[in-house]
Parts: sequence; structure tokens; C-alpha cells
Amino acid sequence: MNVREAIEKRRTIRKFEQKEVDISLLTDLIDCARLAAYGANLQPLKFKIITDAETAGKLFENIKWAAYLPDGTPKSDEMPAAYIAVLGDTKIKANAQFECDAGAAVTTMMLEAVDKGLATCWLGAINRDNIHKILALPDDLRVAYLLAVGYPKQESVICGMSDGGVKYYEDENGVIHVPKRSLEDIII
Ligand SMILES: Cc1cc2nc3c(=O)[nH]c(=O)nc-3n(C[C@H](O)[C@H](O)[C@H](O)COP(=O)(O)O)c2cc1C
Repeated sequence: MNVREAIEKRRTIRKFEQKEVDISLLTDLIDCARLAAYGANLQPLKFKIITDAETAGKLFENIKWAAYLPDGTPKSDEMPAAYIAVLGDTKIKANAQFECDAGAAVTTMMLEAVDKGLATCWLGAINRDNIHKILALPDDLRVAYLLAVGYPKQESVICGMSDGGVKYYEDENGVIHVPKRSLEDIII
């Protein structure tokens, strides 16, 4: 798979096979994030892998899934095998501006995941304070994002956008359609 193919194939998935993801694969995603672009090359992020069901269940309570779908939240037999918490280290970056760095890291992990047959969901609608407590993190680490990881139990495809409608939707076969703006619309 070349990079272009991975970019096109990568779609947000929110329903997962109930199958473990080998820890070496999860570690590989983080190893790729390690090589991403970071402002001033500070590399201010830390990562925590969560696979145990009890902690994952507590995280789940603090996540909002699929704002545009009536039925987008994973059910008990659709849960991700793992979460990767992306954490900003204020000892390295005192201003705590982690958004761009975390975006580079998450994107890099998502593309590597595609190549490994894995699916991901980047999660930002999360209760960061609660997650900080659940993960018993030290004060100098801030929760930036969670990345849900697992084997896909759902299909999602790109579609054209009509009338500027950005809402992704599920068709009668359970396939998610994600509208993307046209090239003509975004080059000025
Ligand atoms: C910063 C950011 C935060 C996101 N947070 C959530 C979230 O909390 N819950 C969720 O279900 N999806 C979340 N997503 C996934 C987006 O909904 C998804 O990327 C978008 O609908 C486009 O679909 P695609 O990733 O398949 O291209 C987030 C994506 C980004 C970039």
C-alpha cells in the first residue's frame, strides 16, 4: 500500500471486532508517532496504551462518539481493543499548546494503522479531567486526545459533498459515508 492509498483508505471507524490487537502493533504505532513532525522538534508528547477492559470501560464513559449518527456509539460487542492516550508533557512544553503536535502524532499513527489492517477513531470530545484521574497521570501530563484502535467491524467511505453538508451518515447497509469538499472548493 502506498501513502496515497493509505490516506484514502483511512476512515474513522467506531465499531470494532472483538479481537485483541497485539501489543507490538500498538507499540509500533507509537514508534511511528515518535518520528512525526513536532514544532521546534520539542517532541513534547507521551503515550499510554490502555487495553484492560476495566480501564477501557471507564474511558468509554468519558467519550462522545459520532455526533452526527443516531447509532454511532459502539455497543458492548463493538468496543475498540485498545486506546492510546496522547499526552502533552508540560515539563517539555511549558505553554501546554499541544494541539498541532498531537495532530501530527495522531495522523501518523492512523496511517500506520491502516497499513497494519487496523482501524482508528481520533477522539477529542472527551472529558479530559476525568480521563486524567482514571489514568492516574501526574500533574505535568495533560490529556490531548484518545485514539481508539481495533480491527474494523464497519465500513466507511468518502463521498462528494452537496450543498456544503458536512454530516457523515450511515446507509441502509451500515456503511458510513463521509462527505469531503472538492479540490475546486479548497484551492483558492
Ligand atoms: C480533532 C478531532 C477530534 C475528533 N473527535 C471525535 C470524537 O470525539 N468522537 C468521534 O466519534 N469522532 C471524532 N473525530 C473523528 C471525526 O468525526 C472524523 O475524522 C470526521 O468525521 C471525518 O471522517 P474521516 O476521519 O473518516 O475522514 C475527531 C476527529 C478530529 C480530527
